[in-house]
Amino acid sequence: MIFEPIHRLYYQPESLLEQFFSGKIFPAKYFNLHINGRKLRIQRISDCHVDDIAYLLKNLGERSKRFRFCSDLSHVAEEFFDNLAQATVKRCQVQGYGLIVFDSETEEPVAMSQYVSNGARSAEFSITIADDWQGNGLGKILTDRIMKQAKKDGISHVEAVVAHENTAMKLILMRSGYRFSKAYYPNCSMYKLYLG
Ligand SMILES: CC(C)(COP(=O)(O)OP(=O)(O)OC[C@H]1O[C@@H](n2cnc3c(N)ncnc32)[C@H](O)[C@@H]1OP(=O)(O)O)[C@@H](O)C(=O)NCCC(=O)NCCS
Repeated sequence: MIFEPIHRLYYQPESLLEQFFSGKIFPAKYFNLHINGRKLRIQRISDCHVDDIAYLLKNLGERSKRFRFCSDLSHVAEEFFDNLAQATVKRCQVQGYGLIVFDSETEEPVAMSQYVSNGARSAEFSITIADDWQGNGLGKILTDRIMKQAKKDGISHVEAVVAHENTAMKLILMRSGYRFSKAYYPNCSMYKLYLG
C-alpha cells in the first residue's frame, strides 16, 4: 500500500463540497479541508461567529490590516473590530453569504470571506486570511467558493477594492476573471467581476 505524504493542500471531492456549500448535505454544518497536514473546518458565517471574526481581524499584522481595509488601522481602537464583526455577521446573513475557517486543533479562526450585496444585483467581496496561514492556497479556495455562491444567488457583478501592493490578492482576482475597474483611493484600485 502506498501512503502519499501530505505536502500541499487537498480537500474533499468537488461534488461533496458543492453539496455542502449549497446546503444540500443536511444536517452538516461544516466541512473539513486539510492544508499541510493540518485539519481546518469551514463553516457558513452565522450569529455565533461575532467574537471569532473580531479576534481574526484584531490579530492581523499591520500589513494585513492595511491590505484588508486599504487604510492604516494601526491606531484604531479594538472596539472598531468588535463593531465591524457584528456588522459583518448581520450583513452576511441579510445581504450576502460568508464563510469562516477554523483550525480544528486550536479552534482559532484562521480565515473568512464574504460577499455582501450593495445593490439589487451587485456585491462587494472581501477576504481575510490570518498572517500565519497566508500563502497556502486558502485565499484562492475561499474566493472560488464565494464567487460560485454569488453567481448562484443571482449576483451579476462583484467588486473588490485592493491595495496596489497586494500582489497575492491581485493574482487571485485576475485568475478568477476580475478586471481592473478604476483607481479608488490613492493606494487602491477597484476590480470587478461580471458573473452574467
Ligand atoms: C491576500 C490574501 C487574501 C491572499 O490569500 P492567500 O491564502 O495568502 O493566497 P494564496 O495562497 O491563495 O495565493 C494566491 C497566489 O498568490 C501568490 N502569493 C501568495 N502570497 C504572495 C505574496 N506575499 N507575494 C506574491 N505572491 C503571493 C501565491 O503564490 C498564489 O499564486 P500561485 O497560485 O501562482 O502559487 C491573504 O494574504 C490575506 O488575507 N491578506 C490580508 C488581507 C487582504 O489583503 N485581504 C484582501 C483585500 S479584500
